Amino acid sequence: MGDLAGRKLLPAIYNLAHEGSLPERIELVGISRGQMTDDEFRLQARDAIDRFSRRRSDPGVLEGLLRSMRFVSGSFDDPDLYRRLGSVLEEADAANGSPLNRLFYLSTAPEFFPVITGLLGEAGLNVSADAEVRVVIEKPIGYDLASARAQNEAVLTHFAESQVFRIDHYLGKETVQNLMALRFANALFEPVWNRNFIDNVQITAAEEIGIGTRAGYYEDSGALRDLVQNHMLQLLALLTMEPPTSFEANRLRDEKVKVLEAIVPPSLEEISSMAVRAQYGPGVVAGAESPGYRQEPGVDPESRTETYTALRLHVSNWRWAGVPFYLRTGKRLSRKLTEIAVTLRPVPHLAFQGSSDFQSNQIVLTVQPDEGVSVSLGSKIPGPSMRIRPVNMEFHYGTSFMSESPEAYERLILDAMRGDATLFTRNDEVEALWAIIDPILQGWAADTTSPIPQYPAGSDGPAEADTLLAGHTWRRF
Ligand code: BG6
Repeated sequence: MGDLAGRKLLPAIYNLAHEGSLPERIELVGISRGQMTDDEFRLQARDAIDRFSRRRSDPGVLEGLLRSMRFVSGSFDDPDLYRRLGSVLEEADAANGSPLNRLFYLSTAPEFFPVITGLLGEAGLNVSADAEVRVVIEKPIGYDLASARAQNEAVLTHFAESQVFRIDHYLGKETVQNLMALRFANALFEPVWNRNFIDNVQITAAEEIGIGTRAGYYEDSGALRDLVQNHMLQLLALLTMEPPTSFEANRLRDEKVKVLEAIVPPSLEEISSMAVRAQYGPGVVAGAESPGYRQEPGVDPESRTETYTALRLHVSNWRWAGVPFYLRTGKRLSRKLTEIAVTLRPVPHLAFQGSSDFQSNQIVLTVQPDEGVSVSLGSKIPGPSMRIRPVNMEFHYGTSFMSESPEAYERLILDAMRGDATLFTRNDEVEALWAIIDPILQGWAADTTSPIPQYPAGSDGPAEADTLLAGHTWRRF
């Protein structure tokens, strides 16, 4: 069973079943090259759910779900697999008395996406006269702009865009959706959400973990492809887009595409002043010695793959002209933290003596951990003089809602089953995302000699990241 299926997908499906959110009739067919009986597959699924579900499993719910599981063995490029899969699906339809909707979830290496969608098409499994057929595609969608375009074209040869659900699991996170609620359900923020009031924005996605056992993937990917091209640019798009007229999938995605197209990527000459790359060296993470990236198993000792990147981007439109957006992400940093910090401009005149170091208002959305929103305000320090100090107004999910947020995959799998593509990435959006980072990737690939800056594992990243900042400082984490 694949890593994602075991850690995320099956536990998410279990939790949907636990809440009674799944359709009354569901058949789950696992497919992979290995040979397994249905019962062996169920055993693996049970083990994965027991280990990774956010809830302790309820025996009744779990048994019911496991009974709905089947397994088909085969190689993804073998047309015979699709004939056998077709028969299994027909049997399920017959047992149900009418055709069931079909959702093909491609939790496979990306090179198989065109192969699988092509063979599903050739086997006639891409359409059904009486039911919905959809396909979910995991990242990475392409390796660069050209390959993403080629992949989109290949997939769209057999499936209509409305059938294709490209997952970015950040969009399934409650806190990321709350960014839209914060902006568009409150009269407080949107009037200042522009260049007249906002001084700069910092988006951080810091990770404490390294690359684990994913050296093969990560060596070819690097931080820019792995986290910026998708998750971080999605955060930026939601933060900067114009208000959509509704949250219907295409209305929202139209706005995201528009703002992504307003982000002008750096020219070749600008790359060194707008983009920094670095790698973790040996260090100490959570009290334990950690090897450097180049010493990790499976990594080339002379690897130039970045495990950290920081960017300064600009959104060239009326709302945002002149506002710097700083993005940074890295592996093996001092702690895990994903946040968006919006700093407002200072007030035009501060009349209070002795408050010159007072910082401007900041709105910080913490995506994870300790999910919430905090707004820093200037407040009078109690006492005889009029001195000002920043204080925080805080909202924490944990205390405000007293319930555990669902996992991103729960929301996304359910939406894909229901055919709601609002939180999925459209083909032109994928291309707009790549168009921003493609020139940086090309510039970096062409430079095969400059040393890659190193930062100690467990630190806050390389000093070189400071060179991007136009008179600002990175927030501490
Ligand atoms: C994945 C990346 O898309 O996102 C991983 O491939 C990264 O490298 C992960 O660790 C981060 O996700 P989250 O939800 O833990 O922030």
